Amino acid sequence: MTRDADILRAGFEEFGRFINPMIAQRATLTGEPFRMVRAHGGVLHDAEGKAYEDFHGTQAFGHRHPAIALAVRQFLESDIPSWYPSRLSPHAGRFARLLCERSGYDNAFFTCTGSDAVEAAMKLARAATRRPRILGLERAYHGCGYGATALMPPGPFRDPFGPHLPGVETLAFGDVAALEQAFEAGGVCVLIVEPIQGEGGVRAVSDDYVQAACALTARHDALLVADEVQTGFGRSGHFLLSAGWPRKPDAAILAKALGGGLVPLSAMLTRREIFERAYGSDVEDGEAHNATFSYNAVAAVAGLAALELLTEELMARVSELGEWFRERLSSALEGLPLFREVRGRGLILGIELASPDHPWLGFEHFGLPSLAEKGRSPIAPLLCHRLYRRGFYCFPCGHDWNVVRLQPRYFIERETLERFTIACREELEFLCGLT
Ligand SMILES: Cc1ncc(COP(=O)(O)O)c(C=O)c1O
Repeated sequence: MTRDADILRAGFEEFGRFINPMIAQRATLTGEPFRMVRAHGGVLHDAEGKAYEDFHGTQAFGHRHPAIALAVRQFLESDIPSWYPSRLSPHAGRFARLLCERSGYDNAFFTCTGSDAVEAAMKLARAATRRPRILGLERAYHGCGYGATALMPPGPFRDPFGPHLPGVETLAFGDVAALEQAFEAGGVCVLIVEPIQGEGGVRAVSDDYVQAACALTARHDALLVADEVQTGFGRSGHFLLSAGWPRKPDAAILAKALGGGLVPLSAMLTRREIFERAYGSDVEDGEAHNATFSYNAVAAVAGLAALELLTEELMARVSELGEWFRERLSSALEGLPLFREVRGRGLILGIELASPDHPWLGFEHFGLPSLAEKGRSPIAPLLCHRLYRRGFYCFPCGHDWNVVRLQPRYFIERETLERFTIACREELEFLCGLT
């Protein structure tokens, strides 16, 4: 047996035993088809050869896109260093230049996860302004670093980890008056906003709120940071959704698909002038925020290949296809009593469902009373469970289990989305029949 065959045979159980038994338990309880052994044509396949279309979103170009895999393979077959003790990595430099040209920023910091890039933005803001207060919005998800944890809603992502980072405050979503008051109190270094809250339920900030955020950060000389880990790199049909804001944010965060789905990679894009205010006084300041693998060439090579795939034509396709999909899904689900709405932009969409008031359709009935006590509704997990059996891999949003998040790959065929729409209508209709 080859090493890979042996790993595929036993490694899923080893994950549960040696990494995280609760993830293994969740995947089993929800009936996720997690035993994937092959990725072909952007799609996942299990050992029986059944195909699953992945709607998680991290694999924006599809699993193991051949152009990205080829670029990484060719680099590994060369003898070019993949890591430089000086940190001066030419591949990272080229990737930074091209990202800046595409985004209109002129300074980039690379790291491995979205959380790390958010922490970098928070530290940049404090170092550049020497002010303490970091503001974010209710139901935000900015990752699991300490700054971002302080911005999480009450619950498992936040409660066990106190005391939280001082100076980090959450504001009511969409409340312009609360935002004005927060700035009037002084001492704000940064406001961090997701243009569309992903885990918060695919909720877009309103134009009025964005306008106020742009004006207030400018007036108070605070940084405005757009966390585009979910919306950016083409997902919303734009390179950065925040590029359309009245004032270009002082920094933007990219992650997830940035490394082509093959390599962990995230970026914080900002302006050179802000970098210099924060880290430009002395040579030793320049490395005051860093990570060992920030500039590794393998990640940059994957990023360069992903950037090449992400053409204007592809983003236009995402925009157009997303609009068609949203309308098609809305009209197909219209009238079902458990359906509320489909929302989002491009290929970041969410289906909001109603919580049924029915004794069988509660987590208590499924032997999970603690989830029932927390007010969690099982309807979106149940719909996802039924969709797994139809060959679609999707999830509820992390902070709002009434919303099914849909983030298909950018090259997905319209017929596959049509098949999803029909399956989704039939399975939700079935669940409605139980209430
Ligand atoms: C908007 C947003 N910011 C930050 C993060 C954190 O990214 P990571 O999980 O790579 O640390 C996420 C993760 O889903 C996210 O959705």
